[in-house]
Amino acid sequence: MRIAVTGTPGVGKTSACSRVKGVRVVHVNELVDELGLASGYDRKRKTKEVDIVKLAKAVAALGDSILLEGHLSHLLKPDLAIVLRCSPRVLERRLRKKHWPSQKVRENVEAEAVDVVLIEAIENVPEVCEIDTTKMKPAQVARAIESILAGERQKYRVGNVDWSEEVLSWF
Ligand SMILES: Nc1ncnc2c1ncn2[C@@H]1O[C@H](COP(=O)(O)OP(=O)(O)O)[C@@H](O)[C@H]1O
Ligand SMILES: [Mg+2]
Repeated sequence: MRIAVTGTPGVGKTSACSRVKGVRVVHVNELVDELGLASGYDRKRKTKEVDIVKLAKAVAALGDSILLEGHLSHLLKPDLAIVLRCSPRVLERRLRKKHWPSQKVRENVEAEAVDVVLIEAIENVPEVCEIDTTKMKPAQVARAIESILAGERQKYRVGNVDWSEEVLSWF
């Protein structure tokens, strides 16, 4: 089974997946760098542009028993996508503390608030779960991912996370 752990940049994918045991973890960002698959660099947004077709081919060659970690991983034909979520307010605080450029902080907070990655995952992947990591440490997120891999789906079904009240409180 090919699993994607995805989510808005900054939500804690790399930190959590580095602690997941029992499955081969591939960090998609590292793969992109190793294989030179960044086709350009968006200076203004400080993000790499990735050739997703070449990336999908490289991933296919890695076999089926794999956990792909990264914000593009749900586009790499996984059987199951686990979307990590974080309260937009907490995400903003976390990214500011790390001195991310303010435009990028805003972009990611907005994307998280309106479920951009979740919707993309639902549109592209047969099975989707979501974990609210807001109050969890990376190791706890890793245990939650492992429990989904062991078959726990109900607790993490789509819709268990909802930022609408938080977002409405902004107006
Ligand atoms: N569960 C967490 N609680 C608090 N801070 C976290 C958590 N997970 C990650 N972080 C911090 O948030 C930042 C982004 O984490 P990272 O794992 O790189 O996110 P991603 O891979 O999703 O972009 C890092 O500075 C990291 O130390
Ligand atoms: Mg990362």
